[in-house]
Amino acid sequence: MATAPAKLILCGEHAVVYGRPAIALPLADIRATATVAPSPAGSGPMIHAPDLGGRWRVAEQPTDPLSRLVTTVVERFGLPADVEITIRSAIPIASGMGSGAAIATAIVRELLAYGGQTLPPAEISAIVYESERAYHGTPSGIDNTVVAFEQPIWFQRRPDQPPLIEPIVIGTPLTLVVGDTGVRSPTRLPVGAVRERWQADPARYEALFDQVATLVVAARTALAEGDVVTLGTLLNTNHELLRDIGVSSAELDCLTTAARSAGALGAKLAGAGWGGVMLALTTPDQAPVIAAALQAAGATNTLVTTIAATG
Ligand code: PMV
Repeated sequence: MATAPAKLILCGEHAVVYGRPAIALPLADIRATATVAPSPAGSGPMIHAPDLGGRWRVAEQPTDPLSRLVTTVVERFGLPADVEITIRSAIPIASGMGSGAAIATAIVRELLAYGGQTLPPAEISAIVYESERAYHGTPSGIDNTVVAFEQPIWFQRRPDQPPLIEPIVIGTPLTLVVGDTGVRSPTRLPVGAVRERWQADPARYEALFDQVATLVVAARTALAEGDVVTLGTLLNTNHELLRDIGVSSAELDCLTTAARSAGALGAKLAGAGWGGVMLALTTPDQAPVIAAALQAAGATNTLVTTIAATG
């Protein structure tokens, strides 16, 4: 069995598509799992995904993104083909928590392990990126990177070069409360809308992305110094900028406001927006109060998670 974690973008989503930096965190205790077992000789790969509602032969659904991923990995690395891959995931889909990248990463890790091979995180990340493109069109690559490396990262695309990926220093453990709007929002929709608006008014959107970049730089310092009060303020600013960029929603605004009213140090939507999840930064003591406030404000699910200090 192989697994891979969920993720949250702490700050910088959307602007990261346009070359600005972003910070992403893996959530070690919320994971996707892939298990490979032999299938009858000659059957070729099969995928069994109870949480995604199906069981299919890869050869019969060759254009499905997971089918493509399996075919690519099996062929490229000469792995056993008569396998049934069972996928389980505790990560809500289309909600900004990296479910697609985690499932793909778990599948790649498990297929390789079953064939007696391993690859470094950067190579697994590159394979998963190809798969993410089938879902999203123009993903920045931050999801596959944080999931495959499984550590807090600083991520920035660069022209004509691989992205800059650096580990982030976390000076004090972070307590985050995640609230799910229950609204499923495929990443490519808000990402596509932002692209249209940027094309229509590049100066305005470039200026917004620059403001996001400035706060992401400040957030990195606050994280390293363990200054959660400053970090909270920066997360609030990031939410306002994401509203200006046009990717918040009534539900996301309602939940972030509720979290702040209940004592959160800061709150913002997390991921592509228009639905999915928001995150609130809090002290450990206040976390249950914030989770209750989010539920009262309409969150369909809440969870409290801790990001360990590094080093
Ligand atoms: O996959 P999500 O919903 O966490 O969104 C990804 C973050 C974006 O910056 C909006 C898109 C991207 O590819 O980086």
